[in-house]
Amino acid sequence: MDLACLMRPRKLCLCKGVSRQDIAEAVAGGADTFRKLIDKTHATTGCGTCYHEIYAAFREEREKAAAQLTGQMGLKF
Ligand code: FES
Repeated sequence: MDLACLMRPRKLCLCKGVSRQDIAEAVAGGADTFRKLIDKTHATTGCGTCYHEIYAAFREEREKAAAQLTGQMGLKF
């Protein structure tokens, strides 16, 4: 058995082959709105059933990026 196939990131959007990693990279690359994320990844543009899961992942990645930024600035909220 090829164990490498088990290490592949799970696709959140099966139609467009978008993984959580792809979303994290898109956010890190400047996708600061959901529209920009869709433009970069094309997630949700097939059947659309992944919309809520993609949106939740986008929000989590944005929150991580914001937390990282406030941590770098030494701010606490
Ligand atoms: S699973 Fe994402 S558009 Fe179909």
